[in-house]
Amino acid sequence: MSIQSLKPYLLFLTLIAFVIFESNTYIAQNEVKPVPEKIAHNSSEPSPFQTIIKVLKSPRCMNCHPSDDFPRQGDDGHLHKLGVTRGIDNHAGPVQTCNTCHQDSNNIYTNVPGAPHWGLAPKSMGWQGLTDTELGQAILDKSKNGNRTPEEIVHHMGHDALVLWAWNPGEGRTTPPVPLDEFKKALEEWLTAGTPVE
Ligand code: HEC
Ligand code: HEC
Repeated sequence: MSIQSLKPYLLFLTLIAFVIFESNTYIAQNEVKPVPEKIAHNSSEPSPFQTIIKVLKSPRCMNCHPSDDFPRQGDDGHLHKLGVTRGIDNHAGPVQTCNTCHQDSNNIYTNVPGAPHWGLAPKSMGWQGLTDTELGQAILDKSKNGNRTPEEIVHHMGHDALVLWAWNPGEGRTTPPVPLDEFKKALEEWLTAGTPVE
């Protein structure tokens, strides 16, 4: 075969190489410039549900809502120290219960967090590993959420002592990424909108 007869093939290969190169550049450009979340949801503001989810998925809430039998600690959600487990009725025991260490308010001397009725959320209220929509469905599911109506769930999230503790968690702990008044506003708007889960 002469160089001359290879010419059409070489031209073809060059074309293919060019197309691959160009498409990689295209993908690379799209990787460095992701579509901003706001535009992706086709609105300038997150929906009330998205605001609520941000709070629910924050470590202050998740640490007490595990899907297994172990409370978590810290922003990294490490296992509760001293081998504390779900135990009897979500309150550890029998030797020491949650309240042996957790009082009705934060202890400013020992930095043990505290709020009334401190305990682990029941297993049916475990949220680890759920997608946003699954989490929304779970908190609305009467067979899992303590037999609450949407109104009662919204009321719980705006008033329960353990929920409110998240915005006053004690020295060195971060609060949820949404201010409490904005969270309460989003709850009301979510209820008015008929509690959509996306
Ligand atoms: C022996 C004492 C003790 C017992 C019993 C105990 N805790 Fe704790 N708990 C602590 C201490 C101390 C901390 C603070 C650790 C820190 O901030 O480093 C803590 C932190 C936590 C946190 C982390 C809060 C956060 O978001 O960082 C959660 C959640 C928690 N405990 C839940 C429970 C639950 C639920 C029970 C009962 C099932 C329980 N604890 C039983 C001592 C205890
Ligand atoms: C100290 C542990 C603790 C913390 C912190 C905590 N919870 Fe809970 N949560 C519980 C327990 C215990 C229950 C069950 C009590 C009940 O049903 O009244 C519960 C129940 C709930 C429920 C009822 C429905 C369901 O399916 O889960 C919701 C909603 C909820 N919590 C939201 C939150 C939110 C939002 C936060 C954070 C801002 C939070 N919780 C922080 C312990 C906690």
